[in-house]
Amino acid sequence: MIPQDSIQLVLDTAKIEDVISDFIPLKRRGVNLIGLCPFHGEKTPSFNVSPVRNIFKCFGCGVGGNSINFVMQHENLSYPEAIRFLAKKYNIELKEETPSEEYITQQAIADALYIINEFAAKYFEAQMWETEYGQNVALAYFLERGIRQETIKKFGLGFALGQQNDLVTTMIAQRYEPDLIRQAGLSNSYGKDFFKTRVMFPIHSVAGKVIGFGGRIMGNADKSMPKYINTPESPIYNKSKSLYGIALAKKAIAKENVCYLVEGYMDVIALHQGGIENVVASSGTSLTPGQIQLIKRYTNNITILYDGDAAGIKAALRGLDLVLEQDMDVKLVTFPQGDDPDSYIRKVGETAFRTYIKENSKDFILFKTDFLLKDTQQDPIARAHALQEIVLTLAKIQAPLKRDIYIRECAHLFDIDQRILMQEINKQIGINFKKQQQQSQLEANIANKQQGLQNEQIPNSLSQENQNQSAIAIEDQNNISSTLLDAFQTPKQSLQQSWSATTAQGYQERDIIRLLVLFGDLVYEGEVTIAQHILLSIKDLMTEIDHPLYKQIIELYLENSIAEDAAPIDTNFLINHPNTEIQQMAIALISEAEQYVFSENWKKYSVTLSAQKPPHENYFKDVKYGIGRFRLKKIERLAQKNQQAIKNLQANMESNFDDLRILLYAQQKIMQMRNEIANDLNTVVLK
Ligand code: CTP
Ligand code: MN
Repeated sequence: MIPQDSIQLVLDTAKIEDVISDFIPLKRRGVNLIGLCPFHGEKTPSFNVSPVRNIFKCFGCGVGGNSINFVMQHENLSYPEAIRFLAKKYNIELKEETPSEEYITQQAIADALYIINEFAAKYFEAQMWETEYGQNVALAYFLERGIRQETIKKFGLGFALGQQNDLVTTMIAQRYEPDLIRQAGLSNSYGKDFFKTRVMFPIHSVAGKVIGFGGRIMGNADKSMPKYINTPESPIYNKSKSLYGIALAKKAIAKENVCYLVEGYMDVIALHQGGIENVVASSGTSLTPGQIQLIKRYTNNITILYDGDAAGIKAALRGLDLVLEQDMDVKLVTFPQGDDPDSYIRKVGETAFRTYIKENSKDFILFKTDFLLKDTQQDPIARAHALQEIVLTLAKIQAPLKRDIYIRECAHLFDIDQRILMQEINKQIGINFKKQQQQSQLEANIANKQQGLQNEQIPNSLSQENQNQSAIAIEDQNNISSTLLDAFQTPKQSLQQSWSATTAQGYQERDIIRLLVLFGDLVYEGEVTIAQHILLSIKDLMTEIDHPLYKQIIELYLENSIAEDAAPIDTNFLINHPNTEIQQMAIALISEAEQYVFSENWKKYSVTLSAQKPPHENYFKDVKYGIGRFRLKKIERLAQKNQQAIKNLQANMESNFDDLRILLYAQQKIMQMRNEIANDLNTVVLK
């Protein structure tokens, strides 16, 4: 384990331009350097290196980070490996901390399990290649399925006879611990062989160690047996964090900058044999966050190759919203009815297979839109359902620019007003934030701590209970929003009128974070920094912040502002923050701001900013405007909540008249505040 101060020393010493120019040529452009991004194929450079910030950011594919992040991604290293790599380059001696006893025990067990699995894998191979029965039954089975001998060897395929519990017996005779054999998943709870009469597919970790097995019955004869069984979860095998084929695929994935995802073991093997090596299988489950994380180490692009039956596609479509959350690009290829990648490549060969993929890759979101829209032409309710699905998907896209582009496309496909779609998506983003928030106990605590603050300005009659009541209405996402239904039932003109400027909470919250990150340490007035000014200006609305990450960042500033003698948080601190979410957020914000300065493209997308000076020349007004918009959104939402609470009270015969009066008074005050802010905002905008 490497202590934080050693990591900091590495970061301080390793100059980003120095580290990167070891791998790719960089040219100076103003204060920055620019080059061709090594993480995606490009002809015009969009890969930016900022010596001042000591970070890099690619505006083409979105990767960014400090020198450790760069080395991790470029050299496929883990975090500690990347630190050691840089320490070596700069002759820095790392003081490594001695690990805990518990950690050592765990490591010892894991090491033993790796050895046991390695033994078993060799044993299964020997059973197949070296026994007559194995050759006649297992090897013959693979060969008959068109897998060549060298491919069988490459994947370490084998055969488990298992009839006399031969594996367990052999291992115990060689003094392997029965308990460890069981922990590896090779024996069952009776101490007998777990795999019996199956061909065996060893499953490897990223580093190429055997962590588990899949075993297939030969042929489809015995319908009472499951076709595949897999090693149960063990200290070294976590199904949701492994991908079949990753060790053999990782180089090719990074090189081709795309990962093909297939369903089964046999698909991976057949593609490899056909010369396509950037392929992994999720082994019959839909993708998990852990598996996505694994792929993301090598590429941001996934192409899913699934057979064309509707059930499979539906499952794939569902699972993939998850990938969007990770800011990855997803394409989908389906195969003709009755074919999977395995059968298709054996039918047509490598060249035709590659052409097929190229010609049939569909953008995942547009594919999903098409798929859902099929057969709904005459049915407004079905269309609204489809649109609701798309709203859920688009709300998962993290990058605002990307999201905007899809909103345009999808609004066009659905033939509805963009702003309606945008409004629904913003609403959904709010709901997503809420959900995340509810899941985390930690966040609940923070909210409690801050509860006191809020009561100062909003009359305390807005009791927690009333607020919760109204929040439920916002969260009920199973009901199709009436706006969506309207979208298909009313003519376009009236739609535009019915559009109101509600929600979009996420944008306003993000903007506050942007201002904190970009300008927080600058002076606002006298001794007060911009960060302190922002915190003071929003403190009464702190509990209204939905996004857990934004909240966490604000907490960071709050703690900093009350710590005695603490230097203000600056961009460097955030860019190298050990919490990667915070770090990535800071890098994204800073890079977006810098992109504004030198990218012509940016202007195309920038609606509100294009008439203004770049943010760094204009931060005073930027800050005022940001705070104003944030307060306006939040107060409008409070007004909505309060209004709902009033309605609830009015609908309830037993309500107390005093309660109602207090809420009505509160509503008056809230509206007053709202109008004041709106006025202020107008002045700021016009100035
Ligand atoms: N699978 C499983 N258990 C099953 C069936 C399938 O774990 N009872 C997993 C396996 O990882 C399998 C994947 O789901 O590879 C996809 O299933 P399928 O398409 O049926 O398997 P293939 O790999 O195509 O195997 P085969 O061609 O031999 O039928
Ligand atoms: Mn198959």
